Amino acid sequence: MLFHQLKYYSIMMKCCCLIVTIFCAIRVSHCGRLTRNCLTSNGKCARKGVACDDAFGEGWIDKGKCCNERPCCIYKCPNLCRSANYSCGFEDHSCVFQFDTLGDYVWSYKTGSTTTAGTGPLEAAEGTHYLYTDANNGENGTTAILTTAATNLPACPYCLSFKYHMMGPHVGTLEFLAGEKGSTLRRVWKYIGGLSFSHDDWRNDTENIPQYCNPVFTIISTRGDGTIGDIAIDDILLRTGACDAGE
Ligand SMILES: *[C@@H]1O[C@H](CO)[C@@H](O)[C@H](O)[C@H]1NC(C)=O
Ligand SMILES: *[C@@H]1O[C@H](CO)[C@@H](O)[C@H](O)[C@H]1NC(C)=O
Ligand SMILES: *[C@@H]1O[C@H](CO)[C@@H](O)[C@H](O)[C@H]1NC(C)=O
Repeated sequence: MLFHQLKYYSIMMKCCCLIVTIFCAIRVSHCGRLTRNCLTSNGKCARKGVACDDAFGEGWIDKGKCCNERPCCIYKCPNLCRSANYSCGFEDHSCVFQFDTLGDYVWSYKTGSTTTAGTGPLEAAEGTHYLYTDANNGENGTTAILTTAATNLPACPYCLSFKYHMMGPHVGTLEFLAGEKGSTLRRVWKYIGGLSFSHDDWRNDTENIPQYCNPVFTIISTRGDGTIGDIAIDDILLRTGACDAGE
């Protein structure tokens, strides 16, 4: 009886081992094959549950699996970096920044001062035209957006410079964002306007933008809580490469 039981257990153990071995074999070969695939596509294995761009940075995308459900990540860069220079003085409609219909209201071309007293610039910062959001449009917290999404920008680091005017007690916020097309963009610059501006007080800013594979830039004007809050921009320059020191 005891002998039979032992024999039975022994067979069961062997079976178990066999099953485990088969599972291991499948798993290892599965793993090995995909890891080789991953390696041949110059991929890297991220940690389980970590997205490729979180593990290795912008431009890394998920391409299959490594062992243990770890994502295999490859660097996907559709555009190459080549030097380019985009300037927007808003003298015509050729600016790389175009209206984005995701916004609630519009950016308008303007010469001279805006119609609402106590807000807006006297004149353009560069040339005769500038672009602005009129706080007579929209409501508290609504946005007007410009985007470069229609243009395939080269995959380079950029220097972004621009002039802005944000005068009036109801001025909301102006933001520049940049990032990988189709992903959540990162804020490059944000300013909450208001009383410190005068009519002839255009200000400027310059920002270094890191390299993205498929870069996209947006400009978001968010309306404040009233009509005396026009927001104007002009003389935007987006060029590849790092900003010069002191720029
Ligand atoms: C870019 O274009 C602007 C305006 O056309 C020009 O003033 C500037 O020198 C150019 N910069 C480069 C780096 O080519
Ligand atoms: C306007 O929007 C801001 C930000 O969302 C909010 O804090 C404020 O209470 C709003 N004002 C009114 C009158 O709704
Ligand atoms: C930018 O603003 C600073 C003052 O904040 C001024 O000295 C500088 O000349 C301005 N640059 C341009 C290009 O307007």
